[in-house]
Amino acid sequence: MDANTPLAYLGGLSATEFLRDYWQKKPLLVRNAFPELAYRLSPEDLMELAQEESAESRLILEKGKTPWELRKGPFTPKQFKALPKTHWTLLVQAVDHYLPELSDYLDHFSFIPNWRIDDIMISFAPEGGSVGPHYDQYDVFLIQGIGNRRWQLGQHCDETTPRVQGTPLRIIENIEVGFDEVLGPGDLLYVPPGLSHYGVAQNDCTTYSVGFRAPALAHLLERVVDVALENAGSTQLFADTAREATQHPGELTDKDLEALRQQLMSLLDNREALRAAVAPFLSEAKYEDYEPQGEEFDVEEVREAFTAGALLRRDPASRCLYTVQDDSPALFINGQEVDFPAGITDFVLLLANHRQLAAAELKDWLEHGEALPWLVEQLAVGYWFLDSIE
Ligand code: SIN
Ligand code: CO
Repeated sequence: MDANTPLAYLGGLSATEFLRDYWQKKPLLVRNAFPELAYRLSPEDLMELAQEESAESRLILEKGKTPWELRKGPFTPKQFKALPKTHWTLLVQAVDHYLPELSDYLDHFSFIPNWRIDDIMISFAPEGGSVGPHYDQYDVFLIQGIGNRRWQLGQHCDETTPRVQGTPLRIIENIEVGFDEVLGPGDLLYVPPGLSHYGVAQNDCTTYSVGFRAPALAHLLERVVDVALENAGSTQLFADTAREATQHPGELTDKDLEALRQQLMSLLDNREALRAAVAPFLSEAKYEDYEPQGEEFDVEEVREAFTAGALLRRDPASRCLYTVQDDSPALFINGQEVDFPAGITDFVLLLANHRQLAAAELKDWLEHGEALPWLVEQLAVGYWFLDSIE
C-alpha cells in the first residue's frame, strides 16, 4: 500500500495524512467506510461465540443487580434468554482469532505494524445498551455493524478523572460532550487514547472495535533490564579512575551521580540487547496460554493444495514480527525466535508481511528446495494454515 494514496475508508485521507493529523491526536468520523463489514456477523453468531469456553466475553447490564453490572462469559442460551429487553451489551474480544476472513479487515490498517494491533472486539446491544461513558488507553477504530449507535465524544481523561464508584467498570462521572452523532451500518469513528466516549445503541446494533495496544514502557524496561543483567553479570562494577579529591566526604555529588548514570545507561544502551529483549516480548500472543493447532502435510500435498487454489493464511491468533539488524532478519512468533535458512529470507518476510497469500503471490518459492519444507514445518506448528477458497 502506497502511504500517499487517498483511502476512501479514511474519508479520502492517505495513511500518511491520517497518521500525521489524527492518529493518537483527534477523532475522525467517516460515513460508510466499510459497508460490507456491517453484516459480517449476526447477533446470533456473536451469542454463539460467547458460549465458547475459549472466547473472552462479557455482559454489561446498566440496570443489573447493581448499576453497571459486569458478568463474565462463557454464557449459556438460558442466560441470554433471561436478559432484560433493553440496556445491556454483550462484548466478545478477539473475534478475528476465530474468523480469519474478519482478520483480513486488519489489512486496511496495515500502515500500522502488527505488533501495535490488539484485536477486533465485537459488541451487540439492544436499544439503550452501552458500556457507559469511559475512556480507553488505546487507539480504536469503531465500525458500526447492523443498527445505529449514538456516539458522544468528550474531554481528554486520565487516571485523575472522577469515576463512578460501585462498579468494576471504569465509567467516568461526567462527559463534556463536544461531538454527538448517530452512526449507521459501515460508518467508522476513530477515537484516540484518553478521549472520553459514550456509545448508546438506538436499536439492535453491533459494533466492531479494531483495537490497538501499546506496551507499557515499564514492562519493556523490565525486559531490557533482564537482558542487560544477563549480559553484565554481577562482575561489572562502578569505575572512577578519574576521581578528584573531595572536600565533602559526606556528599554523594552530582558529578558522581552523573558518572553512575552514564555507566548504568551504557549497560542499557545496546541495540542488540534491546532487540533480544523487546522483539520476543512484542511478539507474544494476546492470550498467554494460546497454542496454535497445526496440521501435518508433506511438501507434495502443500504443492497440490496451492494448485487447487488454496490460500496460505497466517494464524490470526498468533503474533508475528521480524527485525532486521545489520542486514540480518530475525523472525519472532508468539514470543519465540523462529529459525529459517538464509536462502529463503525473502519468502519468510513475504509471509510475515501478509495475512493471506495466494499461490500466484508465492511465485517461484513453491519450487524452491528450502521454502516448502520450511513452510511444512510451520503448518505443523500452526503458525500458518491452508485455507481453501469457496
Ligand atoms: C461498545 O462496542 O459498546 C464499546 C466500544 C468502546 O467504547 O470502546
Ligand atoms: Co471504549
